[in-house]
Amino acid sequence: MARVILGVGAGIAAYKACELLRLLKEAGHGVRVVPTPDALRFVGEPTWAALSGEPVATDVWSDVSAVPHVRLGQAADLVLVAPATADLLARAATGMAPDLLTATLLTARCPVVYAPAMHTEMWEHPATQHNVATLRERGAIVVEPAVGRLTGPDTGKGRLPEPAELFALAESILSSRTDRGVSPAPAVTRGGAGTGDGPVLAGRRVLISAGGTREELDPVRFLGNWSTGRQGYAFARSATARGADVTLVAANVELPDPAGVKIIRVVSARDMHAAMLAEAATADAIVMTAAVADFRPVARSESKIKKDGLVPEPIALAENPDILAGLSARRAADGPASQVIVGFAAETDPDLDAARAKLARKGCDLLVVNPVGNGRGFGGGDNEAVVLGADGSATPIPRRSKDALAGVVLNLVAARLKLVSCPIDRLLAAKLCQVTSLTDGEERGPSAVHLGVGYGGPSRQDGRPDQ
Ligand SMILES: Cc1cc2nc3c(=O)[nH]c(=O)nc-3n(C[C@H](O)[C@H](O)[C@H](O)COP(=O)(O)O)c2cc1C
Repeated sequence: MARVILGVGAGIAAYKACELLRLLKEAGHGVRVVPTPDALRFVGEPTWAALSGEPVATDVWSDVSAVPHVRLGQAADLVLVAPATADLLARAATGMAPDLLTATLLTARCPVVYAPAMHTEMWEHPATQHNVATLRERGAIVVEPAVGRLTGPDTGKGRLPEPAELFALAESILSSRTDRGVSPAPAVTRGGAGTGDGPVLAGRRVLISAGGTREELDPVRFLGNWSTGRQGYAFARSATARGADVTLVAANVELPDPAGVKIIRVVSARDMHAAMLAEAATADAIVMTAAVADFRPVARSESKIKKDGLVPEPIALAENPDILAGLSARRAADGPASQVIVGFAAETDPDLDAARAKLARKGCDLLVVNPVGNGRGFGGGDNEAVVLGADGSATPIPRRSKDALAGVVLNLVAARLKLVSCPIDRLLAAKLCQVTSLTDGEERGPSAVHLGVGYGGPSRQDGRPDQ
């Protein structure tokens, strides 16, 4: 159970925070609701008190002997502000503390998440964007608003993401505190501290593919696979929880949109190939979880193929582009060299030697080898894997939730990003990466053989030059 502060600003979406509160409470968390004084014009104090089972105050003058303006923030595991109004973001960015919520934002040393909601014009105003950038620089997670219906008849960017998605994001942040048993997070998340020591992927752009591609045979039939996109969506949530700016290329996924994520929808392998290549150049990390069809029908019938009592023709297939190998080749040709690329290898009978050969062939940095079929992998809420590194490392991840698995892999990504992008000699950086992996107790395996070779030792085993 965690201690959560649910801050509520004076926006029309305040009523949605009731649902968010209910979800947090049902998950067993202790939640103290701290509305701003004006927020009580939208949803009243009795509602918050009854749903949370805790007292509700908006100013710093109630229960003064308990010093709530300091204690609430100090004791919190997470501060989640939903909705965050333009005015509240401005007060937080400038460090003003005229009410209990803004005072709490200054004393919190835990992750702080703002979910802004306002009209598109208010969101896009340079003042608001400047405040958002300031808060992000200080380590807070500011979720991008959703696009859709706003308060009146108008639509646009500025909607509060769905409460279920904000809840999933909160759970992802809270669970990242416990990921460390397998893979230590490289930095402490301190959204409220103003130290710049923020979430491990703060300011990084992460591109993720999810779902299963479909290759059309005719207007009503396709060749496809069982992937639901759950693992990719878990990566999107976990990357957002680590402060990243996330773009998700989703193939035929029917899950709710993760909060604060840009989504590009595609159908076929070739659509996904084009979308991933278009987005790749500016990505710091790419995670390819999608199940992409290796082949497509050579021809697509314009009308529904009929039985007509005939023996059907065999379906002739053509090979689809290899997206993962293509992304690695693009990086090698055009950079950025510091980009980290993660592939997935879903196997019915995982063979680590074959997977290592695949890792080298694809030219990526990490390959997540996970068992699929017979109830494993696709669809369910859990997954297990071994993450192979191009540096020879192997990190087993025992069965756990897909969010938790994503968190462990992203910690490995963050460790690589941190080292390979620092402005010291790249060869030295690559060697430090191996040494750090071992001292963290994070990875095991053949990387140990590199330790004795010093800085003049052999280069990476995947054939790519050291970075
Ligand atoms: C009906 C109504 C709806 C409003 N909705 C929003 C909103 O969604 N987002 C926002 O930033 N401000 C909204 N405002 C303006 C804020 O309520 C106003 O800026 C207020 O001072 C913000 O208070 P806070 O800083 O305590 O959140 C709305 C005002 C009214 C009257």
